[in-house]
Amino acid sequence: MDIKPERFLADLRELRTFGACGTGVIRPAFSDADIAARRWYADRCTGAGLEARIDSAGNVWGLAAGRGILTGSHTDTQPEGGWLDGALGTIAGLEVARAAREAGGPPISAVSFQDEEGRFGALTGSDIWSGRLTVVAADGLRADDGATFGDARRGLPSTGKAPSSTMFTGFIELHIEQGPVLDTSGETLGVVTDIVGARQMTVRFAGEQNHAGTTPMRLRRDAVTGFAAFHAELKQCFGAHLGADTVWTIGQVDVRPNASSVVPGEVRFTVQWRDPSEARLSDMEAAARAAVTKVAAAHHLEASISDAWALSPAKMDARLVDACAGAAEGVAPGRWRRMISGAIHDARNVARLMPSAMLFVPSIGGVSHTFDEDTREKDLVAGLRALAAAAAQISG
Ligand code: HGY
Ligand code: MN
Ligand code: MN
Repeated sequence: MDIKPERFLADLRELRTFGACGTGVIRPAFSDADIAARRWYADRCTGAGLEARIDSAGNVWGLAAGRGILTGSHTDTQPEGGWLDGALGTIAGLEVARAAREAGGPPISAVSFQDEEGRFGALTGSDIWSGRLTVVAADGLRADDGATFGDARRGLPSTGKAPSSTMFTGFIELHIEQGPVLDTSGETLGVVTDIVGARQMTVRFAGEQNHAGTTPMRLRRDAVTGFAAFHAELKQCFGAHLGADTVWTIGQVDVRPNASSVVPGEVRFTVQWRDPSEARLSDMEAAARAAVTKVAAAHHLEASISDAWALSPAKMDARLVDACAGAAEGVAPGRWRRMISGAIHDARNVARLMPSAMLFVPSIGGVSHTFDEDTREKDLVAGLRALAAAAAQISG
C-alpha cells in the first residue's frame, strides 16, 4: 500500500486544532471539542471510502468492506492533554486504512475509542465494545464535574451499530511511548510485549474541621496531617513490593474546606498503582488498605475507601508482536526494542477479543499527559510506516 506521510501529517495537524491550547489540547470525552473532533474523524473516514459509524458509546468507526485488521486508538484527551496521545494512532490508522483501500485491499478498518482517558470510567468506550461494561452501567459513571456518561453521550447521537468483533482478524495500535525509554536510548520504535495492569481506589479521611487559630495542636483531628502520614506510610510499605516496572501515584487530592484559616476536616484522594504482575498488584492493594486502617487509627480519623477499579495486565499476541518486530526492523534496522507499556491502552481491552499488538514511537523528553508532549516528525512517519508494514504482513 502506498501510504502518504504528508496527508497523514496534515490530518494529525488538523485534529490538533480541536480543543487546541498552546502546544497541547483540551479535548475530554464528550466535550464540545471532542464531539467536533469525532464528527470530523467520521467525515475523514467517509472521505477515505470507509463506512463511518458513531456507535452508542461514542466510539467512531471507519469500516472497510470485508473482514480484516482493525487499527486505531482514541481522540479524547486528559484535561491537559498532549496533541499526540491517542491522536497519533487514530490518524495513522485512518491513513493505513485509506491507503489499503486505494490499493484495492487488504480490507483494514479504523477506530477512535471513546473516553480512553477516563473522564468517566477507565477506557470506557473500549470497555463497552469489548463487553467489560454495559452501556447501562456506563451511563451511571460520573465525571469530576458531576456530568454522567449517559447525559454526556447524548451530545453525540449514534449513527450506527458498533461492529461485531468477528469483523476483525486482529488489532494493532500505534501510540507514543509516553515515557523516557526510546527517547534516552535514541531508538525509533518500540514493540509492546505486555501492557501493565493498574488498580486505583479513592480514600477519604475525615477528622474535625475547626478554627486554625484557637484549636490547640493536641486537640486537632486534622485530615491533612493524616494524609501526610498516609503518604509516608504508603511509600514505606509499597517500597517492599517495588519491581522494575512498578509505579504508584497519588494524583488527585481534594482538601475540604481548603481554606487557610481552617483545620481541614476532610481529605479525599486517589491512590493508583501499576505493574505487569497481577500478584504484585494484589499484594500492593492489601498493603494500601492496611495503611489506611493503621493511619486512621493513629490519627483518630474516620476512613473510607470507594471507587476502586482494577485492570489486569495484558499480554500482546506473539504472532502480531513478531509481525510488528519485523516491520520495526524493516523501518528502523537495529533501532527498535521489545518493551512493556507502562501506560494503559485500549489494546488491553481489544486483546480480550482478538490478537492484538502495539507499536511505540519516542516521546521527546519522555513527557506525556502535558501540553509539552511531542514527538519528532520523522519518528511519527516511521511509526506510520511500521504500522502499515505490520498491518500488510498480518493481513497477507
Ligand atoms: O493512564 C494511562 O495510562 C492512559 O494514558 N490513559
Ligand atoms: Mn493514550
Ligand atoms: Mn493518555
